[in-house]
Amino acid sequence: VIDIGKLYAQGGVFTFDPGYTSTASCESTITFIDGEKGELLHRGYPIDQLAEKSHFLEVCYLLLYGDLPTPAQLEDFEFRVTNHTMLHEQMTYFFRGFRRDAHPMAIMVGVVGAMSAFYHDSTDITDPWQREVASIRLIAKMPTIAAWAYKYHIGQPFVYPRNDLDYAANFLRMCFAVPAEEYEVNPILSRAMDRIFTLHADHEQNASTSTVRLASSSGANPFACIAAGIACLWGPAHGGANQACLEMLREIGTPDQIPEYIERAKDKDDPFRLMGFGHRVYKNFDPRAKVMKQSADEVLELLGIEDNPTLQTAKELERIALEDDYFVDKKLYPNVDFYSGIILDAMGFPTSMFTPIFALARTVGWISQWKEQLSDPAHKIGRPRQLYCGATRRDYVEVENR
Ligand code: ACO
Repeated sequence: VIDIGKLYAQGGVFTFDPGYTSTASCESTITFIDGEKGELLHRGYPIDQLAEKSHFLEVCYLLLYGDLPTPAQLEDFEFRVTNHTMLHEQMTYFFRGFRRDAHPMAIMVGVVGAMSAFYHDSTDITDPWQREVASIRLIAKMPTIAAWAYKYHIGQPFVYPRNDLDYAANFLRMCFAVPAEEYEVNPILSRAMDRIFTLHADHEQNASTSTVRLASSSGANPFACIAAGIACLWGPAHGGANQACLEMLREIGTPDQIPEYIERAKDKDDPFRLMGFGHRVYKNFDPRAKVMKQSADEVLELLGIEDNPTLQTAKELERIALEDDYFVDKKLYPNVDFYSGIILDAMGFPTSMFTPIFALARTVGWISQWKEQLSDPAHKIGRPRQLYCGATRRDYVEVENR
């Protein structure tokens, strides 16, 4: 590893790396990815073990504090999270300021950014206690914010959080319960939801996490930084791919249409790409996609809809693409977003909620990375350089003489 910063300070080495394909922006102890082996470890623990044996709040603790919690630590952490799920009542008016047809991600960017105007006692990043309170608040309130963005979007009244339910069940209830009607959370769905959260919890220096770190490097408050992360995640090349992927699978419709879409994805004159395919780091397989595919099978079977046509189209698309030289040569495999939308769709979520659910789950990753950056005494403002390719020096010409 060459420390370019040091070399630059000593007399001027300068790298040009668009898209940061080979530039590390920080040191981190949180998440490790081996793209060739298809391995993802959080604090050393493989993602498939965490998805199978752990649950989301335990993984949150692991990411935030570095180790798996003892029973007492877990109980205390869950207590702190469940006691911060409520939003300041004044914030309901903030939701109401949006147009009903606003995308829930647009609402989330605004509401999370506005939290700094409601929670003044957790914006001072120099105070470790305030940093901790901000972290817990964000993790606890994000399901309420995402669920309320959805309720507002579909014109239903907000459902308040219930602290006796677990994290995933509480979120499902806030999304799907209607006042004056009984609503029992289906344990199959809440387990599947929890697993989707776990699989999205962190993914080292991806675009949205790097955005959070860059925003934070200026000393911005935590709510502003996480709002920046949500905004970045929205793009279809990143978190927005889960919505785009299900829409693509529906557009393909039936397996006989697949070859046409495969040909389009290979055509350099066509901007179309297979959504849910490809990854900057994974060049063998995405371990999250493996778990997600298995989860899709299990959930749809338990719900008695295993013949779901979208799932069949997805499986056939994967099979055909993985036998095609174009995808094999470019090492393009299904990523985490390829199967997640099928599960969310089966649960009853509209596609517009897929990326908000990703944002909700990734919040803990953003916060863990944010905390890690702030606790490094040597951290400095992020300030990339550029390769200037514009005009050379020229003299101003008065407007009448141009
Ligand atoms: N379909 C067709 N071709 C593709 C695809 C795809 N999904 N992905 C990459 N390629 C091709 C590119 O056209 C390019 O071909 P070329 O070398 O002939 O020009 C080559 O593969 C490399 O692609 P890049 O865009 O340079 O790879 P990069 O690492 O920058 O991009 C990305 C990775 C953004 C994920 C890309 O694969 C993509 O757009 N995938 C579809 C969107 C998607 O699923 N995003 C979710 C990512 S995971 C996440 O955020 C949770």
